[in-house]
Amino acid sequence: MKIVGISSSPRGKNSNTLKLLDAALEGASEAGAEVESINVAKLDIKYCIACDKCHKKGECSINDDFPALLEKLLAADGIIWSSPNYITNVTAQLKTVFDRCPLVIHEQLFEGKYSMSLTTAGGDELDFILDIMNNFMIQCGGKSIGGVGCSMYLGPEAVEAAIEKSRGIGKDLVEAIKEKRQYSEQEARQQAWKEGFKHSVLANKERWAHNCDYWMEKGWIKE
Ligand SMILES: Cc1cc2nc3c(=O)[nH]c(=O)nc-3n(C[C@H](O)[C@H](O)[C@H](O)COP(=O)(O)O)c2cc1C
Repeated sequence: MKIVGISSSPRGKNSNTLKLLDAALEGASEAGAEVESINVAKLDIKYCIACDKCHKKGECSINDDFPALLEKLLAADGIIWSSPNYITNVTAQLKTVFDRCPLVIHEQLFEGKYSMSLTTAGGDELDFILDIMNNFMIQCGGKSIGGVGCSMYLGPEAVEAAIEKSRGIGKDLVEAIKEKRQYSEQEARQQAWKEGFKHSVLANKERWAHNCDYWMEKGWIKE
């Protein structure tokens, strides 16, 4: 079983959020997973240019580190997303990765994968940031088992507690994958989205040829 952990703080080794990610990956490793940590802030990942090539041909027109990153994510059984709170959002580095994923969303390529998320903030709004990452995963067809956040103003004891909680949820991510844990509310959201989106796929048959063929193959559309 492979778990990929994504960090996205530009502070590298000094990152508070990386402490949570390291602990979660240690937990996953203790539970038997092969783990890999990737800092997207160190990669060359450009903005999506909305060229539609991924929808038409199934490949990205930009030559940078994103296609190799996507390959690793697609090969993983589980993904741990992490980001500090930057202006009540994820970092621009992580948002840029999300924006490069329209093919993943249109074709639900994270179907069958599990995820969790981690954040730290100077203040609060932890759940809001965790939800951004969890919702992204669900939007891509995957599942989210939840997340851990830490408000740094609470001091070293709170950070230590969040590190231990992250280790625990990292282990639980492996258990969720092993037992194929189901989340009916997430599945219902995905079904509702597919019901609506199939009209867009059909209306864009030419422009989104790859998406359309994929939906036919999957049996999600019939004409
Ligand atoms: C550009 C920037 C924006 C930030 N915005 C917020 C914010 O909106 N709310 C908040 O609580 N903390 C904010 N912070 C504080 C960070 O979330 C906090 O220091 C976090 O622990 C940094 O994580 P890192 O060490 O992993 O980079 C911001 C920090 C920076 C540098």
